[in-house]
Amino acid sequence: MLDIQKIRADFPILTQKVNGKPLVYFDNGATNQKPQIVIEAIAKYYQEINANIHRGVHTLSQLATDAYEESRAKIQNHINAKFPHEVLFTSGTTHGINLVANGFASILKPNDEILVSALEHHSNIVPWQMLCEKTGAKLVVIPMNENGELIMTEYDKLLNNKTKIVTVNHISNALGTINPIKYMIDQAHEFGAAVLIDGAQATPHLKPDVQALNCDFYVFSGHKICGPTGTGILYGKEDWLNKLPPYQGGGEMIKEVSFEKTTYAALPHKFEAGTPNIEGGIVLGTAIDYLNEIGFDNIADYENELLAYGTEKLLAIEGLKIFGTSKAKTSVISFNIEGIHPYDIGTIVDKLGIAVRTGHHCAQPIMNFFNIPGTIRASFAFYNTKEEIDIFVEAVKKAKTMLS
Ligand SMILES: Cc1ncc(COP(=O)(O)O)c(C=O)c1O
Repeated sequence: MLDIQKIRADFPILTQKVNGKPLVYFDNGATNQKPQIVIEAIAKYYQEINANIHRGVHTLSQLATDAYEESRAKIQNHINAKFPHEVLFTSGTTHGINLVANGFASILKPNDEILVSALEHHSNIVPWQMLCEKTGAKLVVIPMNENGELIMTEYDKLLNNKTKIVTVNHISNALGTINPIKYMIDQAHEFGAAVLIDGAQATPHLKPDVQALNCDFYVFSGHKICGPTGTGILYGKEDWLNKLPPYQGGGEMIKEVSFEKTTYAALPHKFEAGTPNIEGGIVLGTAIDYLNEIGFDNIADYENELLAYGTEKLLAIEGLKIFGTSKAKTSVISFNIEGIHPYDIGTIVDKLGIAVRTGHHCAQPIMNFFNIPGTIRASFAFYNTKEEIDIFVEAVKKAKTMLS
């Protein structure tokens, strides 16, 4: 059992008033809030050890380098990667996907196929489309059903010897569906295809085990797991990372440079050109420690309770329809009320101190599938409460009355 009031006390922002009302923060899918320990760790870095890493012989540089590499090792341990050099620091999920897609430009041939799911965020669609434009490869879409679940029988039919990479999110940001990624990875490997898992929405709710999953790439963002913005991780299997060319050229990613020829540094530095977000990388480790202390099993149990409670309460509102009704689902409720634009409801509940996301959630193909302009998305975190859900439900009822 989690002591929610004690947990809430870790998050200073939760005591804020917004528009004169106590903040109810249900936009955790976009980014989640930061505990005091993370906020303090950022200041502590700048107060005590700020220096550039991997370059100086001086003490501060060594302290900063050690802290950065300790964080990498912590994250390696968290996701169960085999080697620390399989864990690359990035600026976020988008950066990680672009890095891999860019690398595949040297591998793909015209008419090779990239399988992408119908449930993707734009950041897991557009980089692959750009790659197709560059290489002549084809983008093939794994379809979904009305519940917002990927159709595995169709997936099986789409896989073939031309499939070079399958890219799918672990959990959908727009609907909350948890995808059967282990099955998908195993099937793709039967055809020799690589698999990239977009874990942006999964890592706030569960601890991925990249070796058990046997995925080739797993990407996520620090800011969705209580860490700073501008941080993220790309896990890649050693063999793949050795095979892919560097994404950016610059300092730190080289072994030797002359005007005739440059050779590249070993992993992970080959992919980490330039001065990184040093404090961000270090503090991402602090955020992961914080979450592990609460425990991902506890987080999942409690968030499932919030999901069940919120679903029941919202469905009691006449004319309300939830999009994303898979049994395998995380604490995201995406919905509309008949005849009312989601933006209007979002605006009214904001006046009542409630933060939700409205719109297409960077997943326009999903909205097109359901033939809607967007949804209202309430996404719950482990620091939210049933009382907040009650406040939200009353606010939605009020908005409905005003707008009907
Ligand atoms: C499933 C999914 N993939 C990718 C992203 C992009 O993440 P970022 O903007 O942190 O790069 C998001 C962000 O909402 C997401 O939900």
